[in-house]
Amino acid sequence: DGVAIYNLGSINIDHLYQVDHLPKPGETLASQGYHVGLGGKGANQSIAAALAGAQVHHIGAVGADGGWCKSRLSDAGVNTDHIATVATATGHANICVDPEGENLIILYSGANADISDAQVKDALRGSGSGDHLLLQNETTLTYEAAQMARAAGVFVIYSAAPFDASRAIAMLPVIDLLAVNEVEAEQLSAALGTAVETIEVPHLVITRGAKGAIWRDRQTGAEHQAPAFRVDPVDTTGAGDCFIGNVVAALDQGQDIDTALRRASAAAAIQVTREGTSSAMPRSDDVDDFLATRP
Ligand code: RIB
Ligand code: NA
Repeated sequence: DGVAIYNLGSINIDHLYQVDHLPKPGETLASQGYHVGLGGKGANQSIAAALAGAQVHHIGAVGADGGWCKSRLSDAGVNTDHIATVATATGHANICVDPEGENLIILYSGANADISDAQVKDALRGSGSGDHLLLQNETTLTYEAAQMARAAGVFVIYSAAPFDASRAIAMLPVIDLLAVNEVEAEQLSAALGTAVETIEVPHLVITRGAKGAIWRDRQTGAEHQAPAFRVDPVDTTGAGDCFIGNVVAALDQGQDIDTALRRASAAAAIQVTREGTSSAMPRSDDVDDFLATRP
């Protein structure tokens, strides 16, 4: 039934507060606005990829309070057969966004820590060569899932966010593509004691905000670059997830690296002009329209 993306990823209830500045230690800060939405790096990436036209199977867990999160995912076209409902409450994120669109996030992992080994095995049973597995750092079992998928010939993509040096280093031998932002790239190279360029993974993607993204293919030595499109950001939360979801969706649909990077940059540019995380993800038509107006 064609190629698919399997995403072992977090599902969070995002509480978004619009503040006039990010809070300082000891400060009680009143917010100007408040929204609740579906988030989690995993769910955001699944929705981004599904709206970009990919077939996505999300592997994750919610609590009894997370039925609506599952519905949001399936409304976006994500397969939710492998999302368990567990006794723990759904993961939460408290997010403050300032007028420049900059954010600060506090996470509670909740049900995301209760995904079972059997669940992952069962979900990946149907995966194989041509498929992609997406992983981030907001669930357990990323190492086990990567090993399992790789043995079946699945291309494994790991986004090392939120950053954890020892976890990232442990993942390097079992992944095909590492996706990091500039800060994470620096943190990882410091932990490894090597230059960013020499990180040993087949493919390395570094997103650099306004400076655009770079993709290094270790085997061919090729370096691909994509510029960032200039926009006025309203809320940058989830933009990195949007980028990754669109890169993997493009690859999954057989597009080349340059096209994948360009479409993902455009998608992220649209995402930051919209408030919210998963609710701000563009459809592939939006990306087409955006690119039609840019050189
Ligand atoms: O990357 C943005 C996401 O980080 C938010 O949706 C929040 O849930 C946290 O996981
Ligand atoms: Na946004």
